[in-house]
Amino acid sequence: MKSSLSWLRVLVLFFTIFGLMEFFIDSGDKPAFIAYPMAQLFLVFVLFLLIAIELILTAIENIIFQALNEEAKKKYLASKSESSGWAWGKKTYQKLLGSKPIEAESEIILDHNYDGIKELDNKLPPWWVYMFYATILFGVIYLFRFHIYNDYTQDMEYEQQVAAAQLEIKEYKKNAKDLVDVTTVELLTDIGDLKAGEKIFMSNCVACHMADGGGGIGPNLTDEYWMLGSGIKNVFNTISEGGRDGKGMVAWKQILKPAEMAQVASYILVEINGKEAADPKATEGEVWED
Ligand code: HEC
Repeated sequence: MKSSLSWLRVLVLFFTIFGLMEFFIDSGDKPAFIAYPMAQLFLVFVLFLLIAIELILTAIENIIFQALNEEAKKKYLASKSESSGWAWGKKTYQKLLGSKPIEAESEIILDHNYDGIKELDNKLPPWWVYMFYATILFGVIYLFRFHIYNDYTQDMEYEQQVAAAQLEIKEYKKNAKDLVDVTTVELLTDIGDLKAGEKIFMSNCVACHMADGGGGIGPNLTDEYWMLGSGIKNVFNTISEGGRDGKGMVAWKQILKPAEMAQVASYILVEINGKEAADPKATEGEVWED
């Protein structure tokens, strides 16, 4: 019993220190012990220290105990078993159960005798009674809060949670732009994205499409005629998968990241398509309609 109590003490202290550390160290979304490797070292150190202290305490107790005479030993053991945490726990447990010990059953036995079967007039166990009172209290508060003062409805709760989730999704997408693919890509109109798209276009695409998109080896991107379809999804798909075999437009997904393809596709649609080109190539394909 003694040793299990020590272990309990070590664990409780350890997790208290762990909790305090997480509470006081500001480590963003990640728990501190993941964000800072030093914190892990600190925790291991704390754990060792706690175990060492427990071991030393047990050893000291042992030595002192051995030095006592027989009578003192007995006294010590008796007082210890009374004061130990388990005795207190047991007593409370008994109290909560509220049952009479078998020796005292004669006090609560009823007079009836049903063919030899007797009945005890046990009290309801306190743990049950207190829980029952708690549910009544809960019910009253609930009634006032939601049926009389109409604090909020389930619909409102739902909408709040959906709104919060949508904010989270937005935040997530902001940090995970490379998750886009042809099914989820959307036209980017942010200046930063368009500027990035322009840079990608200038360093990868002008050789065939010209800086103003007028076309050369590749088709004219300024007109409303498209061979492989317009709209962000089609343009993204063309850039990602390439043009028809043998035409010269490679699949850029090996070279560009998904976010970059979305940026350059948006740049073409927003900044190039519909503008005048200095030396436009003849139209190819068909007028694109959504
Ligand atoms: C080696 C030359 C070459 C380069 C470099 C090139 N393209 Fe192309 N591009 C072409 C050709 C050729 C086609 C026509 C493909 C077809 O007919 O199937 C084309 C077609 C396209 C189309 C479809 C046009 C339509 O009418 O449907 C888009 C959009 C496009 N390119 C964008 C880009 C982007 C963005 C880059 C740079 C990342 C790029 N291209 C780099 C040669 C090139």
